[in-house]
Amino acid sequence: MNTVTNVVNYRDLLPRKNGFVFKVVKKEDTFIHTFIEGEFLQKLGFSPDDIIGKELKEFLSEEVAAQKLVIYEKVWGGAHGSYDGSYEGKLNGHYYLTSLSPKFAGKEVIEITGTAIDVTEKRKKEINGQILEKLSLVGQLAAGVAHEIRNPLTSIIGFTQMLQESIENEDKERYLGIIVSELERINLIVDDFMFLAKPKEYIEITENCMNELVHSVIHSMKQELEQKNITIHSTLTSQITAMCDAQQIKQVLLHLIQNAIESSEKDKTIYITLKKTHENQLLLTIIDKGCGLTEERQDRLFEPYYSTKEKGTGLGLMLTKQIIENHNGKIILNSTAGKGTTVEVYLPLSV
Ligand SMILES: Nc1ncnc2c1ncn2[C@@H]1O[C@H](COP(=O)(O)OP(=O)(O)OP(=O)(O)O)[C@@H](O)[C@H]1O
Ligand SMILES: [Mg+2]
Repeated sequence: MNTVTNVVNYRDLLPRKNGFVFKVVKKEDTFIHTFIEGEFLQKLGFSPDDIIGKELKEFLSEEVAAQKLVIYEKVWGGAHGSYDGSYEGKLNGHYYLTSLSPKFAGKEVIEITGTAIDVTEKRKKEINGQILEKLSLVGQLAAGVAHEIRNPLTSIIGFTQMLQESIENEDKERYLGIIVSELERINLIVDDFMFLAKPKEYIEITENCMNELVHSVIHSMKQELEQKNITIHSTLTSQITAMCDAQQIKQVLLHLIQNAIESSEKDKTIYITLKKTHENQLLLTIIDKGCGLTEERQDRLFEPYYSTKEKGTGLGLMLTKQIIENHNGKIILNSTAGKGTTVEVYLPLSV
C-alpha cells in the first residue's frame, strides 16, 4: 500500500501568486536547495533553475548569503524556543517574509522546509505612513520658522545691497558681495521651507520653453561647474514648451544637477536630455557617472532629512518629488553603486 503522509501538495498550501516554498538539505557542511516553486520567485528575478542544486552564495550577494546562512545553521541545529525560524528579507525591490522549519528523522534534522510570502505592499504602506508622519512634522516646523525668518532676512538683504552700492573701498565691497550671496543662499533655504509648508498654494503655471529653462539653470551654475571641473552635455532635441511653474521647475533642475555634481568624483561628465515621449509628456533625463547608490539607500532617498552628505539637509529630493507630483508628473531614479545614477522626470506638457 502507498503511504501518502509525506506528500505535501504545495500548490494547495500556498497562495500561488504571492509566495514560494523551498527545501534545503545540508551536504558536507554546505546547504543545497533541492526544491523551489511559486510565482513570487519570478518577481524576485529568479527561476527555479537559478536555485535548485545551488548554495546561497551562488544566487545571492555575498552579504545577503552570509546573513541567510546564519539562519539556516540555526534552523538546522533544530532551533526552537527563542527563534522561530522566520525572517524578513528584501530583494530587487520586494519585501518577503520567510519561515523555515526543520524536518526531523528521530533527533536528527534531515531537511529544512521554507515558505516565503510577498509582503511588499504592506511594508510599502507602512513606510509611506512613516514618511507622511515625518512630512507633516516638517511642514509644521517649516511654516513657523520660515515665516519668522523671512521678513528680517528681506530687510537685511535690502540694506546690505544698499551699503554695497554706496561703498568705495574695494575690499569692503567684496566682503559685502559675499554677505549678499550668502544671504541669498539662506533665502533659498527659507523658500524651500515655505514650500514645504504650503506646497500647492505656491504654484504659478505659465507657458515655458523648457530648453531655455534648462539652459538658464546650467548657466546659473557656471561658476560652480568650472570650479569643480564638471562638464554638462545637454541634448535638447527640439524646442519644447510646457505649462509649468518656471521657478519650481528650475528648482527641480538645480537640485538634481546639484546632486549629480556632488556624486561625481572621477568621471565628471553629466548628461542632460530633454524630449517628448509618445504619450505627449516631457521627459527630462539627468545622468551622472558618479558614486551611485546601493539598493537599500535608494529606498530612502525621498524621505525628509535623509542625507549621506556632511553638509546635506536631505530635503532636495523630497522637495523635487513634491514639486513634480504637484505638476502631475513623476520622478524615477535608477542607480548602481559605483557606476552612477539616472534620474528621469516625466511632466505632462499641459497641467
Ligand atoms: N545623483 C546621485 N548620485 C548618488 N547619490 C545621490 C544622488 N542624488 C541623491 N543621492 C543620495 O540621496 C541623498 C538624498 O539626496 P537629497 O538631494 O534629498 O539630499 P542631499 O543632497 O543630501 O542634501 P540637500 O538637501 O542639500 O539636497 C543624498 O545624500 C545622496 O546620498
Ligand atoms: Mg541634494
